[in-house]
Amino acid sequence: MDIVIANESHIKYATVISETISDSAKVRGTGIAKRTPDYIIKRLVNGNAVIALDGDKFAGFCYIEVWGHQKFVANSGLIVHPDYRNQGLAKKIKKSIFELSRKKFPEAKIFGITTGLAVMKMNYELGYKPVTFSELTDDPDFWKGCQTCKNFDILTRTEQKMCLCTGMLYDPAHSKKYESRKLNNKTFSRLKSIKEQLLLKKKKG
Ligand SMILES: CC(C)(COP(=O)(O)OP(=O)(O)OC[C@H]1O[C@@H](n2cnc3c(N)ncnc32)[C@H](O)[C@@H]1OP(=O)(O)O)[C@@H](O)C(=O)NCCC(=O)NCCS
Repeated sequence: MDIVIANESHIKYATVISETISDSAKVRGTGIAKRTPDYIIKRLVNGNAVIALDGDKFAGFCYIEVWGHQKFVANSGLIVHPDYRNQGLAKKIKKSIFELSRKKFPEAKIFGITTGLAVMKMNYELGYKPVTFSELTDDPDFWKGCQTCKNFDILTRTEQKMCLCTGMLYDPAHSKKYESRKLNNKTFSRLKSIKEQLLLKKKKG
């Protein structure tokens, strides 16, 4: 398996990446924003993405987005093809995109929003902390990216204060580097289910 910084030679994988994201959103039914092939192509060629390939087969992808005049960067769109899941690949991709973010944007706070326990675990181990949305970028273009998520109405209804996703932040000034620590799964699963009960119930009513 090769995990490399993406470039023009990887444009041919844009469609499979976009389809894998859409298929995963359908299966999981929540919390993944869709991305068109054109959107993926822009991320593949700007030097801010990593792609995992098994020979010439697509295995995984993640990209960096820059917000608020480089004060923030997000590691977004993490996807591992179903054929390559549960083998530690997402963890390697996450580490690689995190290192690229630190190298290219050493002053920036790194953040992500996710409903996925796997992603929360990986972020936590890299030194991210859970935070309220008010600590994340207020760049409207970042939040516009949530429009294609099926829970977008919740974000709108709460005036961007909360959603089913949890915000997580790595602050280079305060977070400890590569501290080996493990997320308490039970706490986060409980938090997720409380949020779902509160926010999804209101949605129906
Ligand atoms: C989430 C996803 C990227 C994980 O990829 P993966 O390569 O299977 O993950 P890894 O094998 O590297 O696992 C990393 C950690 O997450 C855990 N994990 C993996 N899938 C999990 C799940 N569904 N629920 C809870 N934990 C999970 C693993 O046990 C591992 O933890 P450990 O180090 O404590 O053992 C992959 O399932 C995927 O692409 N899903 C669809 C897209 C998605 O949800 N993206 C995230 C958007 S926010």
